[in-house]
Formats: sequence, structure tokens, C-alpha cells
Amino acid sequence: MQLLDGKFASEHIKTQIAEEAADFLESSGRKPHLIAILVGNDGGSETYVASKMKNCEKVGFKSSLVRYDTSVTEAELLEKIREINADAEVDGLIVQLPLPKHIDPEKVTETIDHRKDVDGFHPVNLGRMMRNLPCFIPATPYGILLMLEAYQIDTAGKHCVVVGRSNIVGSPMSILMARNANPGNCTVTLTHSRTKDLKEIVLQADIIVAAIGKKNFVTADMVKPGAIIIDVGINRETSTLTKSGYKLYGDVDFENVAPKASWITPVPGGVGLMTIVGLLKNTLASAKKEIY
Ligand code: GUN
Repeated sequence: MQLLDGKFASEHIKTQIAEEAADFLESSGRKPHLIAILVGNDGGSETYVASKMKNCEKVGFKSSLVRYDTSVTEAELLEKIREINADAEVDGLIVQLPLPKHIDPEKVTETIDHRKDVDGFHPVNLGRMMRNLPCFIPATPYGILLMLEAYQIDTAGKHCVVVGRSNIVGSPMSILMARNANPGNCTVTLTHSRTKDLKEIVLQADIIVAAIGKKNFVTADMVKPGAIIIDVGINRETSTLTKSGYKLYGDVDFENVAPKASWITPVPGGVGLMTIVGLLKNTLASAKKEIY
């Protein structure tokens, strides 16, 4: 078994991003700028957004955080998004999900200018992705592609089984792995909570993308020897054993699956770190007007 090391791959790519950001600053007189909007104080969202901001600073981007209390109205939030859309010195805008129940995430997603939608959630970006046109690819699937590329994993002709059909990961990942691109060119099966005979299907996979959000969901008896395992799960459990007060678990039973795998991502230290890289690359591409 070999580790798909998110720390190693992400640091390598971030060095390149930092160099490009420095070139951009020299030629344009400003830094690439990402704004994140955070509503409420969900523990997971706080951690993710803080990490996104910190990584922006690390690679020489400007980052701004706009915070709202859970009581913010949908109208107020949409107005803020429109204001940021109109600011020529902002390259990327993300609204951290989930949002409180009284705010429609579809409205929020569609209000963000697709040319600043560095999360790649806007229907224009998703539609362009379907057609293999230049677009912002959702950050986590993008990070996974970058990881496969960094380790020169040949995916062509392989059977990729995606477990989970979320808008953020599973659905776009299934499209990307089937595209005529590299990485890509897979035969893809997208499975979900209503899939029958899930174990038998996952057993056929050369590549498993586990994005179902359940601790240790993929067990060793579901994995073909030599399979490549991409674990997207970030399941938090409170723990007295760690400094942060919680411990992270993937969607894959790492301990028992790893010995059967050819390649596997750890949690933490795998896909999560690559997600940030996907976001940074989208923000840089936006600043450099490489897509729109
Ligand atoms: N919540 C969980 N993942 C994501 C993400 O990639 N982007 C945003 N905006 N919210 C999320």
C-alpha cells in the first residue's frame, strides 16, 4: 500500500500557486482576493473557513471574512453578495455551507456571479463542467483530481465507484471521472443510499471515492485487492484524547482497508488539504482571467 499524502501534494502545489500569486502582484499591483461569507458558528464551518483564510495568506492572496449571525435575513445576505459581485477587486466569493434553514442555498448559489464562483457550485459552472468547457470545478473534486495527477495515477479505462451523490462532491466527481480528460476516462458508477447490492458494486471498483459522510462506511470486505481508495469523509467525534477536543474519521475503515489497497488517502492529511488547493487554484485562475 502507498499513501496518497495530501500534506506532501498540497505543499508542493501551494509553492507553485505562491509563485504565480507573486507574479500576479507584480504585473497587476494587487493580490488575488478571496472573500468568504460565514453565517452562524457551526464548529466544522468555523474550522474550514479559518483554514481557507490562513492558506490564502500563506500563498500571498488577500482574504476577507464576512460574518453574520444566524438571524441574518436571506435578503440581507443576497444584497451583500450582489455588492461583492460588483467589486472588481474581488476574484472569488464563497458562502460556507450549510446555511440556516430560513436561507435557500439555491438562491444564494445562483446569486453569486458565476465568474467569481470559485466553489464551482453555480449552474453555469456545473453546466460548463458537463460539457468539458473551462469552468470553476468544485474544490473537493478538483483537489482529488490534483492528487491523482500529483501521484501520476493512470485512471483511463478504470472502473470508478463513487459512494454518495452530494452536489458538492459525489455528483460532480462522477462527471469528472467519466470525462474525456486526464485524470478521467473512467467507467463510473454513482452509488447512494438507495443503491441495491452496494457491497457487490463497490467490490468491482478499481477506484473508490467514498463521500457518504458516515464513519468507517467502506469496510475491507467491500474492497477489491489493489483498489485505489479516495476517502472524502470528515466525520468529527468529540474526544478527550486530542488537543482540539475532537477526532476526525474518514468514510473508510482505514486500518483494515489500507492493507488491501494499492493507494489510499489518510484522514486527516488527505483530501481535506487538497480541497483548499482546489479553492486556491480557482481563485488564482479567476484573478488571472483564465476562465472568464
Ligand atoms: N461546506 C462543505 N464543503 C464546502 C465547500 O467546499 N464550500 C462551501 N462553500 N461550503 C462547504
